[in-house]
Amino acid sequence: MTTGEIDKSSPRVIAVSSGKGGVGKTFFSIHLAARAVKQGLRVLLLDADLGLANVDVMLGLSSHGSVKQVVSGEASLSDMLLSTKAGFDVLPGGSGLADLTALNGTQQQTLMSEMREAAKDYDLVIIDTAAGISDNVLFFVASSESCLVVLTPDPTSLTDAYALIKVLSQQRDVRRFMVTINQADKVDGELTFRRLMSVADRYLDVHLDYVGNMPAHKEVRQAIQQQRLLQSVQAKKDLDVVLGEILARPRDDSRSSGLQFFWEHSLGQDLEVDINSEARA
Ligand SMILES: Nc1ncnc2c1ncn2[C@@H]1O[C@H](COP(=O)(O)OP(=O)(O)OP(=O)(O)O)[C@@H](O)[C@H]1O
Ligand SMILES: [Mg+2]
Repeated sequence: MTTGEIDKSSPRVIAVSSGKGGVGKTFFSIHLAARAVKQGLRVLLLDADLGLANVDVMLGLSSHGSVKQVVSGEASLSDMLLSTKAGFDVLPGGSGLADLTALNGTQQQTLMSEMREAAKDYDLVIIDTAAGISDNVLFFVASSESCLVVLTPDPTSLTDAYALIKVLSQQRDVRRFMVTINQADKVDGELTFRRLMSVADRYLDVHLDYVGNMPAHKEVRQAIQQQRLLQSVQAKKDLDVVLGEILARPRDDSRSSGLQFFWEHSLGQDLEVDINSEARA
């Protein structure tokens, strides 16, 4: 496959994460999803900020359920999906649901089983996680094919991104990360990435790929208030550059085979039982 061609044989599964909150993960997730649809990809966005989710709010969607019904086995994931005007589907993460903020092993298994089944209909699965290093976050990132770390040039955001990468590499053996710098121009973006890389290179055994910056756009606040996506040509161009870089990254063969990996890596190491037959029973 040549660079730029999109391999549709199994879905790409990308977790979008950050150390510090409020840096733009949800903003990136929904906009990358919308731009990917424009490239002809079938996209599923999982709002994995469980219990405090807001993808549906940002998009003005009214949900009739969420991941809560999926993990409890009350509904299948496909029944809970919402379609967006932008052409991608969303699994809402549920709001005000404290019991979802730390999924137990059984809930994780159920969700993974449902995700793996649903993902067959998509080319790209984007998982918008919560900020920080909670067990849910580590689980979603470690189970995905790749991780996009979002940060801003703010020093606390940089420190927290480093902490996230450190914990993921040391506790979950995640070694490769894509990095994007939000609310930064090109120069600030590159500078911030170099800062992160110099400290990561020195202290951690990880590989960081820079996939570009996203400038602060004045239109964002208004778009969020109006529950719509950015319309400006420049914003779309900026997002397309980042998306192009993300999709041009080769799959990490040691980790990826779409959701098969998602499934096997999450469960296979810890469980003796045949989850497939258990899920069917
Ligand atoms: N490129 C940008 N330009 C201008 N404002 C932005 C940009 N990206 C994000 N924002 C602003 O930052 C706020 C937080 O963004 P967002 O909700 O996507 O962050 P988050 O990382 O998902 O937060 P949380 O950790 O709470 O889930 C948005 O409400 C928006 O106003
Ligand atoms: Mg968010």
